[in-house]
Amino acid sequence: IHVTWDIESAEKGGYDCFMEKEIFEQPDGIKHTLERRLDESGKIVLDDIHIDKSYLDYINKIYIIACGTAYNAGILGKTAMQKWMGIPVITDIASEFRYNQNFVDEKTLVILVSQSGETADTLAVLRDSKKKGARVLAVTNVVGSSIAREADDVFYTWAGPEIAVASTKAYTTQIVALYMIALNFALEMEKISEAEYFDIIDKMKEIPSKVQEVLDNRDYINVIADEIVGSEHAFFLGRGVDYALAMEGSLKLKEISYIHAEAFAAGELKHGTIALVEDGTPIISIATQQNLFEKMVSNMEEVRARGAYVVAISQKHNKEVEKVSNRVIYIPDSEDILSPIIAVIPMQLLALTVSSKRGLDVDKPRNLAKSVTVE
Ligand code: G6P
Repeated sequence: IHVTWDIESAEKGGYDCFMEKEIFEQPDGIKHTLERRLDESGKIVLDDIHIDKSYLDYINKIYIIACGTAYNAGILGKTAMQKWMGIPVITDIASEFRYNQNFVDEKTLVILVSQSGETADTLAVLRDSKKKGARVLAVTNVVGSSIAREADDVFYTWAGPEIAVASTKAYTTQIVALYMIALNFALEMEKISEAEYFDIIDKMKEIPSKVQEVLDNRDYINVIADEIVGSEHAFFLGRGVDYALAMEGSLKLKEISYIHAEAFAAGELKHGTIALVEDGTPIISIATQQNLFEKMVSNMEEVRARGAYVVAISQKHNKEVEKVSNRVIYIPDSEDILSPIIAVIPMQLLALTVSSKRGLDVDKPRNLAKSVTVE
């Protein structure tokens, strides 16, 4: 017998490509990121991160700086920190932040998010921020990376090695990490109660199985992928954290399928975007936030009336979306702020499926590198 075997296919562990493998590793990655920092009482342990109550009371703002997918995760981190810690947080792209007027000083905590820990612009922000007297906390996946070595404190995500250029498991674990930091700081600052703190942690523990549930239903994504595979353009709509999620969904689709994909804050539709909607234009509409649900439904109605092919992503009880969309991807119920970690999964699967249906190299999209170490 002749056995064809190579290291790369062995490393893919039975999956067609690394991205697919990495998408399916997310329940474990999220679980590990959480569990490595929980003690027996279920409390988050950050004792290697030397940030205490007096420091948190002293600072007056937080900057979360990153590139690409890590930036998209940073926006969710900002939402959680503002909500739980009650402190102003600004999220920015490293290559913009470093050349614009910023207000980094000793009263600023700078949080850098980077899967590789080697992105040149993010590293430059680190060095500049330290020079200005700020404390730098890194959220990274790579032990011993430049950013990990030079930061004052490090929170490691436990995603495991990410090979595919399109980031998936790094993103979901970065969100979990940022939320854990936000929760602990908020408790430290006495901005949330212990009851609220433990309640969110309990709900976070349920995420891996909810992500698994979405992964188990991947066949339906195939149907939707068939319907958009020939499209030239696709839009992603959302409000609040769903807008941040729309940005990540559109990035995934454009980078590996080469379909022109853009994210829009749904409330901005009327200010220009809606002019682009034609018969059959795919519009992925994310509606996971209860307080914004009705608004999203009316935005879906508006684009549907102009002929859009609407794919809704929402929780199971939100049956109303069926009336305003062509397809609905239901995700398990969760706390609003935790929903993005679940709702991103179908978008990752959609990008993967469209890319492979187009016969493209999913793991190594043209013109892109996994780690951008040049400016
Ligand atoms: C590249 C990768 C992206 C990643 C970005 C930031 O563009 O293709 O997947 O999000 O760099 O990388 P980092 O390692 O800093 O998270």
